Amino acid sequence: MTELLRVEGLTAGYEDGTVVIEGISLSLGEGSTLALLGRNGVGKTTLLASIMGLTKIPDGRVTLQGRDITRRETHTRAFDGIGYVPQEREIFPSLTVEENLAVARARKGAWTLEAVYELFPRLAERRRNYGNQLSGGEQQMLAVGRALISNPVLLLLDEPFEGLAPVIVDQLAAAFDRIRNETGIATILVEHHAEIALSLAEQAIVLDRGQIVWAGDSATLLHDRAMLASLIGIDDAVAHEA
Ligand SMILES: Nc1ncnc2c1ncn2[C@@H]1O[C@H](COP(=O)(O)OP(=O)(O)OP(=O)(O)O)[C@@H](O)[C@H]1O
Ligand SMILES: [Mg+2]
Repeated sequence: MTELLRVEGLTAGYEDGTVVIEGISLSLGEGSTLALLGRNGVGKTTLLASIMGLTKIPDGRVTLQGRDITRRETHTRAFDGIGYVPQEREIFPSLTVEENLAVARARKGAWTLEAVYELFPRLAERRRNYGNQLSGGEQQMLAVGRALISNPVLLLLDEPFEGLAPVIVDQLAAAFDRIRNETGIATILVEHHAEIALSLAEQAIVLDRGQIVWAGDSATLLHDRAMLASLIGIDDAVAHEA
């Protein structure tokens, strides 16, 4: 498998001097999906944010398609091929659905406005509505659509299912399956619902206090409940039944 992303010995934190992740190394193949798991506050968001250039990086390296992007500015990363769906979604409340999508176009490719509407028909119905008029599920679809329309090679999803009704979780999970199978975008999926994340990913890593404490095949972790529970806690290991 051709390597898409390589993270080597990455140490990262914030402007106030906090170091959150230390010595993280991982490799992601083109078109593959990696589940990134771990308890609250272990550094999952910080790792994604570091790949987006949003943190302070005293040490280590991030390489995308063989190019060192460690010090590239955040606003250029969409052009480099990274689509980011942040934990807070961060859609523009005073722009319509269609305007939110239009401002995100960075690279040409299969993900056009029409393709995003075909993936999420609900967004087409809501195209003239403002961001602040959308339900949580619609906002998340918009955040994903906005990342897709920049035609990324790598999609970073930070807890995309958080706070959503089970029926919406299922719709989004089906969409992620399609995104992977039909367009071959690689994904790093941060998720508290371990079972859903592991069933969508081939590989998984578990973070604890800023370090990788487990790495391997998702299936291994999915079928070893005891290990999963010891790594991320019982509540997060059981099926999502909200
Ligand atoms: N902007 C910031 N400035 C300083 N410290 C921060 C900042 N953002 C996060 N942190 C700290 O970094 C640590 C890891 O936070 P992070 O958000 O990466 O964890 P997480 O694994 O994503 O947690 P969660 O599951 O709750 O989303 C926490 O101790 C947090 O307080
Ligand atoms: Mg987080």
